[in-house]
Amino acid sequence: MPENIDTLLKESRLYRPSAQTMAAAHIQDYESAYKKSIADPEGFWSDVAKELEWFTPWSKVLEWNYPWAKWFVGATCNITYNCLDRHAKTWRKNKVAIIWVGENDQERVITYGELYRQVNRCANALKRLGLIKGDRVTIYLPKVPEQIVAMLACARIGVIHSVVYSGFSAPALASRIQDAEAKLVITADVGFDRGKVLNLKQVVDQAVANSPTVVRVVVLRRQTPAAPLSGPKEIDWHDWLKDEKAVCEAEQLDAEHPLYILYTSGTTGKPKGVVHVHGGYMVGTYITTKYVFDLKEDDVYFCVADPGWVTGHSYIVYGPLLNGATILTAEGKPDYPNPGRWWNLIERYGVSIFYTTPTAIRLLMRYGEDWPKKYDLSTIRILGSVGEPINPEAWEWFHRAAGGDKPIMDTWWQTETGSILITPLPTVPLKPGSATRPFLGIEADVVDSAGNSLPANAGGFAVIKKPWPSMMRTIYKDPERYKTYWNTIPNCYTAGDICHKDEDGYMWFMGRADDVIKVAGNRLGTAEVESALVSHHSVAEAAVIGKPHKLVGESIKAFIILKQGEVESPALIQSIKDQVLHELGKIAVPSEIDIVPSLPKTRSGKIMRRVLKAKELGQDLGDISTIED
Ligand code: WTA
Repeated sequence: MPENIDTLLKESRLYRPSAQTMAAAHIQDYESAYKKSIADPEGFWSDVAKELEWFTPWSKVLEWNYPWAKWFVGATCNITYNCLDRHAKTWRKNKVAIIWVGENDQERVITYGELYRQVNRCANALKRLGLIKGDRVTIYLPKVPEQIVAMLACARIGVIHSVVYSGFSAPALASRIQDAEAKLVITADVGFDRGKVLNLKQVVDQAVANSPTVVRVVVLRRQTPAAPLSGPKEIDWHDWLKDEKAVCEAEQLDAEHPLYILYTSGTTGKPKGVVHVHGGYMVGTYITTKYVFDLKEDDVYFCVADPGWVTGHSYIVYGPLLNGATILTAEGKPDYPNPGRWWNLIERYGVSIFYTTPTAIRLLMRYGEDWPKKYDLSTIRILGSVGEPINPEAWEWFHRAAGGDKPIMDTWWQTETGSILITPLPTVPLKPGSATRPFLGIEADVVDSAGNSLPANAGGFAVIKKPWPSMMRTIYKDPERYKTYWNTIPNCYTAGDICHKDEDGYMWFMGRADDVIKVAGNRLGTAEVESALVSHHSVAEAAVIGKPHKLVGESIKAFIILKQGEVESPALIQSIKDQVLHELGKIAVPSEIDIVPSLPKTRSGKIMRRVLKAKELGQDLGDISTIED
């Protein structure tokens, strides 16, 4: 593994919270709250857990048999009881839980009471098919409310859901169904993507043909006339639910009972089935949603993810519902039918919390600031970013676009961590490009490969030093692979990300350890070089890789997408190189720059640098089941 990563990026801007943000915040003084939380993490987490409802209490907060953790030992609970019953019992039963907008602008508004009834009907229907606690169900649905209903219905009766993003191909879906040995697949006839109709049912037909464990397929038919089904294996969603009762008691589950499996791409080989459980995951997603987004009763919370990814699981479905929030969720892409789509939705529904990704922000930047300017965005209070390092340029743009005075929560976490771990709270002073500080109860550090803490500004591995409630419990059917997360660096959870801490303890993520480029004895993270590239006024997006070089070890090759209207020329390439020289120094200047129309990305928007590299070097591309095109 690489050692001593060089840090070149210097960012000195600091944004302090406004008086308004300060006045509203749940956590006024991060420093003292953090100190208190890590002096006694188990005390902190058990106090959080007490804000939720449990059927029976725990006898022990944490049982830690390195690297295996159990949280809230002996307790019983059900995450859906806290997402639904806890609210449906109170005045919140008539509060809006979900506002859904389809790609064609169709709107559906679902209250907590109605969501409770729909989930219960679906849970009863699952039971009628003979599904029992511990069985697995694959959900391959577009971003429609039924996707959320199906997830919660499974969880309600202790069935383990495996949501597969509806853009995946038949072989990718089949491998996930087979690994989970799912008995049931829930799908739709079609999904929509920038006006195109995606035939999902066809994909499922192919995948199920090779998946002998699947006994039934439920199909949500969105088109008229409805496509024919071949019974009895295939059932229509509405027929399936129509005679079911709207009451189904939540199963009382052990806190450690699995809630879901979510497949995440490994860099090579087959995808990993990350397993999360009811109790700890519920506690982690609940409190991070509440504190990071400073959630209040009257907020309208808009997260653009898809429940096919972990961000959708934790911050569209579970975290916000645990808090009784009003969630806006919209099918479709940020630039369809035009690049004003999201700003328009924010204006239309009075969104106050807006959580998105650097990739989407960079995409919207390409179309310029006139788009957000067309809309009234004054309801926004808090912004969020997740999924990749947000380069300072994109940070500044997002900040300006949304009004110039709303704090951006740059939240660092992973499928494996379940909930946000490194993040500002709204009252923490912000530095553009830094995910700032650990969340309460989380001990994070930057270390060398032996696990020694590194001094300020030295680059190394981001690690978490103690278990936390929402951590994954295992990799499905592959415990050895789980152990590598805790064995790579002694006594730490290793995220595979490189990072440095500055003098103020702020954490700056610099990319994946696997992507580090070694130039003439220096080790550079991809994020810094890419950030310098996109700080050039003509550059929309950039990805860099290292290429073997006889003299310097590796040389840097950059792939660049230009902003709309920019034209490639030798002078432009030179001025981009000069920009990197100016921002980071000679060592980081790419020796080659290719202008490209698009970059290989995962369907969740992350650049796949290893694919660029394999292609460049004429090597095997490895597992590309998650690639967008
Ligand atoms: C990257 C997404 C920098 C990181 C929730 C991590 C980030 C991987 C950030 C996990 C951030 C996510 N700053 N990098 N704020 N958020 N990452 O599993 O490399 O899809 O390891 O989970 O995304 O991706 P995953």
